[in-house]
Parts: sequence; C-alpha cells; structure tokens
Amino acid sequence: MFDPKEIRKDFPILEKKIHGRPLIYFDNTATTQKPRQVIEAIVDFYTKHYANVHRGLHTLSQEASQLYEEAHEVLAKFINAYSWEEIVFCNNTTDAINIIAYGWGLKHLREGDEIVITVMDHHSNMLPWRNVAKLTGAKIKYVDITDEGYLDYEDLEKKITEKTKVVAFPVMSNVLGTINDVKRIVKLAHSVGAIVVADGAQSVPHMPTDVRAMNVDFLAFSGHKMLGPTGTGVLWGRKDILEDMMPFKVGGDTIKDVTLDNVIWHDLPWRFEAGTPNIAGGVGLAEAAKYLMRLGMENVRAHEKELVAYTLKRFDELGDDVLLTGPRNPEHRGGVISFNVKDLHHHVVGQALDLFGIAVRTGMHCAHPLHYRLGLKGTVRASYYIYNTKEEIDIFIDALKEIIKMRPSLKKMKEGMTDLICTGT
Ligand SMILES: Cc1ncc(COP(=O)(O)O)c(C=O)c1O
Repeated sequence: MFDPKEIRKDFPILEKKIHGRPLIYFDNTATTQKPRQVIEAIVDFYTKHYANVHRGLHTLSQEASQLYEEAHEVLAKFINAYSWEEIVFCNNTTDAINIIAYGWGLKHLREGDEIVITVMDHHSNMLPWRNVAKLTGAKIKYVDITDEGYLDYEDLEKKITEKTKVVAFPVMSNVLGTINDVKRIVKLAHSVGAIVVADGAQSVPHMPTDVRAMNVDFLAFSGHKMLGPTGTGVLWGRKDILEDMMPFKVGGDTIKDVTLDNVIWHDLPWRFEAGTPNIAGGVGLAEAAKYLMRLGMENVRAHEKELVAYTLKRFDELGDDVLLTGPRNPEHRGGVISFNVKDLHHHVVGQALDLFGIAVRTGMHCAHPLHYRLGLKGTVRASYYIYNTKEEIDIFIDALKEIIKMRPSLKKMKEGMTDLICTGT
C-alpha cells in the first residue's frame, strides 16, 4: 500500500489555499489533479520533441511519432489489451462512445433491434445511443436500479432478448458509486449475441482493468480522470470488431489511399484517429498510466475502499440530517459519496463546503434520469483519489456538522439560488 501523504508531494496544486484553508480536493469524479511527472512530460515533449506525427520523414516528426505510438503501447499494457492496435486515442469517454455508437451502430443496427442501457448511465452513455436509435429505428430499453442503488439484475434479464444487439452500461456509477457485475452482464449479453460496451470513465482510473478478463467488446475511458491531461481519452475495442466498424470521423490520417471514388482505410488504430491528434496529450496520458502502474491499481482500489468505508462510518454520526445514496457496502462501491443535507439545497451545501476549502460537485452530475429515478433534484458529490486522506474526511465531516448547525440561516439562501443545470459532469 502507498502513503497518500507522500503522493501529495507530487501534486503542486494541493499546496493551494482556498479561502485561507488548505485545499481539500473531493471532485475527482469530474476530473483529477495532475502530478509533476505528467506536467513535466508534457513540457519536455513540447520543449524537445514536438512536431506533427505520421507526416514527416524529418527527425522531429519521427521522434514525436515514436513517442505517440509508444503511448498507445503503455495504455494497452494498462488495461491488458491484446495489442496496441486496439487502442484508439480520442478526446474523452464521451467522444469514444460517440465513435462506437455511430461507427458500429449505423453499420449494424436495423429497425426492430434493441439497445439495452441503464437508468444509472451518464448522459454520455445514453444520448449517443438514443441518437443512433432514432437514425436506425432501433429501440432503447432501460434497466432499472434497486432501492439500495444496485443495478437490478432481474430487470436486466427481462430486458435482454433475442432482439438485443447492444448492451451498454457503466462499470461504476458516477453518482451512486455502484460497481456493477461486469461478468454477469457480459454473460447475459453474449448469450443473445449482443455486443457489450463498458463505460469505464469511473472504473479505469480507480481499480485494476483487464479487458481480456472482462470479456467486453468495447471499453471507453477518459485520460483526464486518471491524472492525465484534458482532451485525452481511450476507445478500446476488440480488433475484429474495430475492423468491422465504419470510421465515423474521417479525413486526414484515417486513410491509406483515396481516389475520387474510393478510399482504403488506414490500419488500426489510425483509421479512427482523424486529423492531427492530441499528441502532447497522448504523451502526458502515458506518463499518467505509468504513474498509476507504479502505485499498483490494486493499491489504488484498496486505498479508496478504505476511504469510503471510513466515510460511511463517520456519516453515521450525522444521522437523519444527511440522506446518502448508493450501496452501503464498500466492497460494491467506489470512492464516490453522493448525498443531501436535509432541508438544504445541494448548491448551498456545496458553496458552504467551499468556504471550508472543500471542493465537491453539486447538481445532477450529467445523470438527470438517475436523479429523477431517485426522486432528487440534485446531490452533493464527494469523490476521492490517491492523494486524499482520512484526515481530510475528518475535516469534511466537521464541516458538515457546522453546516447542519447553521442550517436555519443557510436555508434562507435557497430562495435566491438559481438551479444550475450541469453542463459538464
Ligand atoms: C460514468 C461516466 N461516463 C462518462 C463520463 C464522461 O466523461 P468525459 O466528460 O470525460 O467525456 C463521465 C464523466 O464524469 C462519467 O462519470
């Protein structure tokens, strides 16, 4: 196990003060902070090796191309892909899922086909499928959740039929923290010949990922949620399935040859990386993956499980004043705690926590249907990563106790608050 206090030394931003207090960064589900190693790798790349990739025979272009290709190999190792050719670099999870939904869906879906997704999905794993369903005549079916915040597997069994062509789900919910049973979902989906699309935005940064063992067909995740730069993400797909997919975004770099009436697509993964890619981002993402591999992803998961177990225990002290969502068993949930303070608007609680130096997310976290299912207009979300500590959780619980004490005066703020709609995560 690693020492989070040692890790913190790698993160310059954690030295920052917010309203005169040490920053407590609990918004890791939205995006994570960056270690010095990642920042330096990007600076080094721009300072010493920068040029466009795959386009020049000159030395700099060769160096940049080599670093960019090596970055794909690092990410392949990170998720135990069969080959680096299965690693498509893209902007983020949203981008990856759009490439899959349009690229696979428009080619393979027909009227009467069914796409099974879940009510706990992030909009990014919901709206691309809904658009593609409209374009193809396919039908969307939603799998419900149980009152405890688990995926309802009985409902899943009912929703998957011979007509199901796609099953898409989050490996971990960005609101409930629920870790879904990948093997069970894959078994059911494959039993009817459907492809399985796993949204790994919240799982890949926080636990070991082995796409061979998962046996899914596609996995999407974001670099910026795993210490990497913004504008980076990965689409992993099984080679035979990627080869049988229509390149959705096309143009420069995606081809081997073009005539006025024909095109020969490039080898994998380049046919899916249209235009000049985020080269420095890819190099930075590889450095982030190396950093996490040095820590060991089992250790990352163990650390977060400990933080969640500790939080759940300490939340007991707040009794009925706090309404928690998601499973109570830390074995089945990641480092995400979404809650409300009774009688207080979530934005008010978020702003009050900011005065204590604590950065949390408030709103519906791009999971509006899930919040409507829970009967909530929003939640406050605290989410952890490798640099968070139990001491920070103690400060967080003390701050919540203060906020509960100040509730009568804070309640008045509710009236003046605009109900901000989440545009990000
Ligand atoms: C489960 C899940 N899927 C998809 C996304 C979208 O990620 P991005 O904004 O990096 O595309 C998020 C972002 O929070 C997420 O939590």
